[in-house]
Amino acid sequence: QIDEEEVVAFSVPSYACLRRTTLDNHNPVLTDALSLLAENAELSDEDGRGVAFRRAAAVLKALPEPVTGVTQLRGLPCLGGHSLRVIRDILENGASSEVEFTKQSERFKALKVLTGIFGVGAKTAERWIRDGIHSLHQLQESGQTLNRAQQAGLEHYDDLKQPVTKAEADAIGEIVEEAVVSVLPGAQITLIGGFRRGKLTGHDVDFLITHPEEGREVGLMPKVVSWLESQGFLLYQKTTRNSYLEAKDGPARPPSNIDRFERCFSIFKLAEAEKRGTMQTENTPEDTCRLAAHSQATDEGPQRTKPAGGRRRWRAVRVDLVVSPISQFAFALLGWTGSKLFERELRRWAGHEKAMSLSSHALYDNNQGRYLRATSEEEIFTHLGLEYIPPSERNA
Ligand code: GTP
Ligand code: MN
Ligand code: MN
Repeated sequence: QIDEEEVVAFSVPSYACLRRTTLDNHNPVLTDALSLLAENAELSDEDGRGVAFRRAAAVLKALPEPVTGVTQLRGLPCLGGHSLRVIRDILENGASSEVEFTKQSERFKALKVLTGIFGVGAKTAERWIRDGIHSLHQLQESGQTLNRAQQAGLEHYDDLKQPVTKAEADAIGEIVEEAVVSVLPGAQITLIGGFRRGKLTGHDVDFLITHPEEGREVGLMPKVVSWLESQGFLLYQKTTRNSYLEAKDGPARPPSNIDRFERCFSIFKLAEAEKRGTMQTENTPEDTCRLAAHSQATDEGPQRTKPAGGRRRWRAVRVDLVVSPISQFAFALLGWTGSKLFERELRRWAGHEKAMSLSSHALYDNNQGRYLRATSEEEIFTHLGLEYIPPSERNA
């Protein structure tokens, strides 16, 4: 698919899974602008527009140097009229009026704040905004009923807004590892998500858990969660059971991209000791601007562990755990490493170009009418007729 002819302006293949997208992006102003419009579309339930802006941003992320004029972009894929208008505005005027307008809009600001609460999606935020709720304060005053996730999200809002560092991700990895091998010797954990792609920070930490013997992983998640809970590491958790095998429309049909693994959305309580002393020298009180969330205090509420008058010695961190049987491990690894757009493009490539259906569980060949097995990501790329792209180059 990639032709070798000398490029004059820029040239990139239209599928993100044919491109190598590293973290060093030569056009951050342009990609931030397009990403903001993508986010606004997604928050406004306009997913189609959201994907269009994400694709446009991803094309610019793949360029080898900064764009200086729109003529360089001639012939590039995924740049629609709307995206080009935004790019031209920035290149010629230093800013895009649409982006600036969106950033300043009360609606966008409110959507950002409210969906910034763990457990709150675009639909809920939309409903609250219609009820005149634009801020955390207004939400707290409103008497809206919050579910358990939202209560935890509000309670730990400030912490969860703080990007998670790689050091914190590693510290949590050690805890999860200890949990996993304690309850099932031989079980293995792998860091997935953004950190596997080499990101230095993330909004959460993602782990994939498996065991080399098929079937041994069954029932593992509740045990891991119990262990973590008993050690006081969890501020919140919600475990959902594996439904892939149970699902009536499961293996017989092309797998959908809805995930059916046993997984756990959690909020970890990461103590400073676990952060390897990175905060030891800091002595500013971090908890002065904490929200007085009026959720039902959990039995392990922050107030209890906070030394009287002193600063807290821990922070809340979002952690996602996924358990996969070893037979699906390569698909789970590929599906959970991201980026989200890279994953979407892989599935689009599989479906449109190869008549295959790719999910985080399996790869189905519609022409052959069978599943294609794989024990590594490399094998999946080969099945798909793609050159292997390592995680660090999947940052589309
Ligand atoms: P940050 O956490 O912001 O650093 O980025 P990230 O790339 O790690 O994003 P996130 O943690 O949201 O997701 C990690 C990967 O898991 C992405 O590739 C997602 O596509 C994938 N993912 C997240 N939720 C689901 C899900 O419900 N099903 C499946 N199959 N994949 C998911
Ligand atoms: Mn993540
Ligand atoms: Mn995640």
